[in-house]
Amino acid sequence: MPARFKTIIEPFRIKVVEPIRMTTRSERKKLIEAVGLNPFLLKSQDVVIDLLTDSGTTAMSAEQWAGVMRGDESYAGSPSYFRFEASIQEVTGHKEIIPTHQGRASERIMFQSLCRPDQVIISNTLFDTTRANAESVGCVVRDIPCAEGKLLLEPAPFKGNIDLEALENLLKENPGNVAMVILTITNNSGGGQPASLANLKAASALARKFKVPFCIDGCRFAENSWFIKLREKGYENKTTREIAQETFALADIISVSAKKDGMGNIGGFLTMNREDWARDCRNNLILTEGFPTYGGLAGRDLDAIAIGIHEALDEDYLRYRIRSVEYVGEALLKAGIPIVTPPGGHAIYIDAGTFLHHIPSSQFPGASLSAGIFEFAGIRGCEIGSVMFGKTDAEGNEIPHKYELVRLAIPRRVYTQSHMDFVVEALTAFKLEESAKMRGLKFTYKPKVLRHFTSRFNWV
Ligand SMILES: Cc1ncc(COP(=O)(O)O)c(C=O)c1O
Repeated sequence: MPARFKTIIEPFRIKVVEPIRMTTRSERKKLIEAVGLNPFLLKSQDVVIDLLTDSGTTAMSAEQWAGVMRGDESYAGSPSYFRFEASIQEVTGHKEIIPTHQGRASERIMFQSLCRPDQVIISNTLFDTTRANAESVGCVVRDIPCAEGKLLLEPAPFKGNIDLEALENLLKENPGNVAMVILTITNNSGGGQPASLANLKAASALARKFKVPFCIDGCRFAENSWFIKLREKGYENKTTREIAQETFALADIISVSAKKDGMGNIGGFLTMNREDWARDCRNNLILTEGFPTYGGLAGRDLDAIAIGIHEALDEDYLRYRIRSVEYVGEALLKAGIPIVTPPGGHAIYIDAGTFLHHIPSSQFPGASLSAGIFEFAGIRGCEIGSVMFGKTDAEGNEIPHKYELVRLAIPRRVYTQSHMDFVVEALTAFKLEESAKMRGLKFTYKPKVLRHFTSRFNWV
């Protein structure tokens, strides 16, 4: 795009459209009450703007659909696998490429194959499924985000960094017992915030010094690379591909859900150079995912990702992607809605604890807000707070999470600027007309793990 124009357009045209069903408020009130006030349990056709997740919701390109047609469904040794392998080798620099059906399968295989019970895993912040998989093999997770990352409403360029001093201390305190250091880029649970290459380099050097494997959860590696190009001195003239390659070169092992920057609707992968690790992981993979050249995916999915992973690194796309999320964030801030600042790469995180400050954590302000904005405007977001991460003590009392957020995740290449203008208008009206009247929630069904997916509530 020539620099003289300041309007950043969607760098694509639309060839196939899906209708959005318009609903009334009274319809939506019934719909959300019928599913126990949990937006995860709604039918997607009842949602006007679906910002539940950016995972697997990408609009694929014409090239990817052409790849789908080329997909070869041979059980073993399909050409689709070799195209997938070559694409991922090019971006990650790793030799051993293991396909999986999605990110959490990569995580399960990695932790079960390479970690032992009671070992410690240290991270800037593990995502919920990653944490659940690490804990299911008996590992103890220590999240140590940097100080700026904990100040939700204060801007800083790299709030996804890990606290290097705390990392060194934990490595010293647990000699021989740290299974892995994992950097999640961007940091989804911490507001979609990027980690800098300086921080990634320092963290990997510390891991190496203590002979601990360094892992990157690289679901949003392309968005992280674009932030580095924009914000980190010395990288302004590098391409995002070069930055991604420099990032991945630091890792001993990479786990990716290809449903994000892989631009796939399903898929994931695990990569490494060590043949012995790869052998163990593939043996585990065969138990549940399938043969190592398809790993739970159809050949056509492998081809879609082989193409998508390169499209995610396209700089016209990334400029539009990051700016369009920032545009929503700026408008919400202007309307006085508290959000994690600066806006993340794939999502806006509303600080529901501040926004609905009259609702205590024990009554789940994030879950109340997500039910409220669905009823008000048909917008579906995702609570990231005490429902998702809260725990129960021995007496059955709730231990709240430290943050009460609602994530509005923007699917890739799906919504236009006017959809986003609608979101801003609706949330601004919600603040003025509804927020003070919102009530808290109480559980009517409380699952033991990953509670946000299936829990049910009543209004307090
Ligand atoms: C940072 C991060 N890691 C791992 C996962 C898990 O990936 P999947 O949903 O494909 O299992 C996600 C999904 O949202 C994520 O955001």
